[in-house]
Amino acid sequence: PLRLAVLASGRGSNLQAILDAVACGRLDARIAGVFSDRRSSQALERAREAGVPATAVSPKGFASRALFDEHLFSLVDAVHPDLIVCAGYMRLISDAIVATRTGRMINIHPSLLPAFKGLHTHEQALQAGSTEHGASVHYVTPELDGGPVIAQARVPVQADDDAARLGTRVLDREHPLLVATLQLFASGRASLIDNRVYLDGQPLAAPLML
Ligand code: GAR
Repeated sequence: PLRLAVLASGRGSNLQAILDAVACGRLDARIAGVFSDRRSSQALERAREAGVPATAVSPKGFASRALFDEHLFSLVDAVHPDLIVCAGYMRLISDAIVATRTGRMINIHPSLLPAFKGLHTHEQALQAGSTEHGASVHYVTPELDGGPVIAQARVPVQADDDAARLGTRVLDREHPLLVATLQLFASGRASLIDNRVYLDGQPLAAPLML
């Protein structure tokens, strides 16, 4: 099975979706470790509940982002992941770390990238008057939320939506999107070559709609 390291900062519902999919055999993977930059992250509890090693490293006490990341990723590397999954990991990762893990690190982002990078994506979508919104799973590259997109899920924006309602609708689709994308990796179907996504050995013309 594919060995995963999962990074999460908060609630951990995407981590839970992965844990559940692994437990019921829908995802041929094993979570080798869960890592958080926040001790209070619910993701840590969810991991421990499932018998998965969980580690928190607080950025406090590190003189720089680079030093924090070096330490955190030395712990990540120690579990020998095939793939590093940022599932609600809310901290920027230094270029040096990202650059040496190209093609082995993915992120789920709550928008239809390249639209609405960064934070508050549901507010951004409402403000822009979008009629469609969603989530993306992409390779992590040094450009924030700018790496090649592997797969997306779309949701309609409804007239009476506020950010919370829209966000809930997106989150419901994030979980199956992330699990299905991970299964592409588990079955060896997805890869990154020259900054392009390949599926089954063919370059992907557009993100998969899942
Ligand atoms: C998810 O909506 C995820 O897409 C988003 O944070 C939430 C985490 O929820 N990620 C980002 O915004 C990354 N910049 P979760 O902790 O319940 O999985």
